[in-house]
Amino acid sequence: MEKHRPQFHFSPEKMWMNDPNGMVYHKGDYHLFYQYYPDSTVWGPMHWGHAISKDLIKWEHQPIGLCPDDLGYIFSGSAVVDKDNTSGFGEEGEAPLVAIFTYHDPVGEKEGKNTFQTQGIAYSTDDGKTWVKYDGNPVIPNEGIRDFRDPKVMWHEETGQWIMTLVAGDHAQFFSSSNLKEWKLNGTFGKDKGAHGGVWECPDLFKMKVEGSEEEKWVLLISINPGAPNQGSGTQYFVGEFDGKTFTTEQKEHLWVDWGTDNYAGVTYSNAPNDDKIFIGWMSNWMYAQVTPTKTWRSAMTLPRKLNLQRDTKGHYLLYSYPVKSFSTYVENKEELSLEVAPNGREIIKNKNLGQSEISFIATSKDFQLELGNDKGEVVEFGFDAEGNFMIDRSKSGKVDFQEGFGTIIQKMPVVDLPKGPFEVKIVVDWSSAEVFLNKGQYVMTAQVFPNDLYNQLVIKNESNVVLEINNLEISAVERVW
Ligand code: FRU
Repeated sequence: MEKHRPQFHFSPEKMWMNDPNGMVYHKGDYHLFYQYYPDSTVWGPMHWGHAISKDLIKWEHQPIGLCPDDLGYIFSGSAVVDKDNTSGFGEEGEAPLVAIFTYHDPVGEKEGKNTFQTQGIAYSTDDGKTWVKYDGNPVIPNEGIRDFRDPKVMWHEETGQWIMTLVAGDHAQFFSSSNLKEWKLNGTFGKDKGAHGGVWECPDLFKMKVEGSEEEKWVLLISINPGAPNQGSGTQYFVGEFDGKTFTTEQKEHLWVDWGTDNYAGVTYSNAPNDDKIFIGWMSNWMYAQVTPTKTWRSAMTLPRKLNLQRDTKGHYLLYSYPVKSFSTYVENKEELSLEVAPNGREIIKNKNLGQSEISFIATSKDFQLELGNDKGEVVEFGFDAEGNFMIDRSKSGKVDFQEGFGTIIQKMPVVDLPKGPFEVKIVVDWSSAEVFLNKGQYVMTAQVFPNDLYNQLVIKNESNVVLEINNLEISAVERVW
């Protein structure tokens, strides 16, 4: 087994990967394209790698989907099923798949131009196996915006047209089209909203029903690098309205899809069954993505997560994210325990499956700390600090010195609206990652870790003067998927 290699998360067979791209569900397959450089384990001329899955967990690698050409590298973007053949690319009544992506021209960049990112399209008439680039590319030229990229396209039912959300440095732009080829700019959002510690990247715009009601809201995801709450790359979101032209919101606070260091550039599936919003992020951070200690491949995707929109008692809209249902079919050999941990005491649980596991329990208070460790004494710590933040401390988690911030940043997540208890704690561990879901995805943190041996021990510490009850503790192995 390759050291640190995730066993049930998507990773490329070899070489460098970053953002998920072109996520579209079509004829029973979830397609996952991704930023890929087939010649090295560091970033380079971008291609779209490709994989397909029936259930979002078990993936089949496919030949590369899109390669660089005269117009440039193939940067991030999306894909749609053009059901009504609005583009005219379809043959014999079959709906074509259309990919919409950014061309990044390295020559123009070198020459110091500001026009080197443009938008292009390609289509497939064999269900995503092979792609033909449109001969009218670029479909959106660049009028002098240095960072102008990552088109995410959706069908807007209300106005009967395609909408593309693009990022332009410090704001998002909304274009419309009737045929995916000719685009018109209608509105912009964000110069005076949200976090602006870095460049805006990888937007996504979609409508969601508020859980338990008929109310509908529009959600806009915007990745930002740097400027995330725990440094480097992260994904913020806005909840508001979209009228076909522009997005507006009354939201004042900064909201994050995931507070951990390692969930970036995530977007949702187009055309998913039941109109589910299924999110996948790149499980890394530009701070250290290119120097993580793996050899033949670099980086993995997060677990696919189903998003749901909740309205809390204060009237705030919050995006929850939680592993998709199909993940539970890969969970096996469940060990079930209920524990009482003595005041200021600790319980040690040995379990050889912990390195690739799902751990969950119902917490009755926040007075606990968890340590996931191995025989080498390497530990990653999870718990709440005195200010009530949830924290992940990976300073002693294994290999940390490949980059300065990796071990020293103690990741914090303010959990102001977390119930006092009981609430569910779920941690999914896969060799070199830990994904924490509190209260069914109300608060989420994802972090990479590089232990020298698989973790095989869980320590539960009671940090209070009363007995700590841990109910329904379940530790399960997760099946390898490749
Ligand atoms: C985000 C990003 C995108 C860009 C791609 C290039 O991680 O910087 O904005 O399209 O990566 O690989």
